[in-house]
Amino acid sequence: MGLNGSGAVVVGGANGIGRAIAEAFAESGAIVAIIDRSEAVATTALAISAFGIKADVTDYSAMQAAVSSIKSAFEATPIVHVVYAAGMGSGKFGFPFWNLSPADWPRVLDVNLMGAVNTAHAFVPQLLEGKTGSIAFIASIAGQIGSQTDPPYSAAKAGIINFAMCAAKDLAPYGIRVNSVCPGMIQTDLNRSVFQAWNDRQPEDAKMTYEEWGASKVKTVAPLGRWQQPGEIAALCVYLASKHGINITGQTLNVDGGQVMHW
Ligand SMILES: NC(=O)c1ccc[n+]([C@@H]2O[C@H](COP(=O)([O-])OP(=O)(O)OC[C@H]3O[C@@H](n4cnc5c(N)ncnc54)[C@H](O)[C@@H]3O)[C@@H](O)[C@H]2O)c1
Repeated sequence: MGLNGSGAVVVGGANGIGRAIAEAFAESGAIVAIIDRSEAVATTALAISAFGIKADVTDYSAMQAAVSSIKSAFEATPIVHVVYAAGMGSGKFGFPFWNLSPADWPRVLDVNLMGAVNTAHAFVPQLLEGKTGSIAFIASIAGQIGSQTDPPYSAAKAGIINFAMCAAKDLAPYGIRVNSVCPGMIQTDLNRSVFQAWNDRQPEDAKMTYEEWGASKVKTVAPLGRWQQPGEIAALCVYLASKHGINITGQTLNVDGGQVMHW
């Protein structure tokens, strides 16, 4: 893939999809660092021989400090690829949007959208130095379809997709590519919290287990009728960063079993 020995950073890489992306970059021979606010950052970093830094993406100065620490840890290896995989939902269920209150929005926008913006600002000086590289933002099909499930989450993901196109245009003259990667449904803590918010609202006789809910939902919403796997998102991120992705920028790529076209 041409990634051997190149520096890659996965923000939100301690768990779930981000962890799978960090593993995939490491397996492709990249030198990897992960940034995450979770305590799991240390154990994940150890497990995949990456550098681990605990930081909250909403804290821009903490993100700038994380970049400095990674530069020191990487020594002569420049940071060339950045993947933004941190994210969270509101913990509430829409349908309709007024089941949430305006107070449910700021933290969701802050982590999902401003975290991506903070990451881009913190890393861009490094990427510009190298005049090559890539950024991938893990967005969501929710950002393309007006998903009512969690309105602030959908709006934040739409914002990421738009910012990725803006950044792709700005960075193209420097040989740096920027894309959005959109999963559909993947079994992670985040997805489980969507289920929980839904289940809490159901009358006793309509409550389901996570497995029952997931099985019926993927069959209803995804033409391929199956869950996506973290490794499938990771494979696309590695492809985009690799020499095979050299002509791909400003794109929104879905790994969703066809859900977005079915909506
Ligand atoms: N699971 C799905 O079905 C699904 C679908 C579409 C998009 N996504 C997106 O994929 C990405 C990864 O989500 P996941 O499903 O693996 O969830 P996850 O909860 O397993 O992982 C999210 C990671 O982000 C980290 N994080 C959250 N807030 C942070 C903060 N303020 N600072 C630093 N780190 C923070 C968490 O600690 C965690 O390690 C997210 O952007 C999510 O929106 C997930």
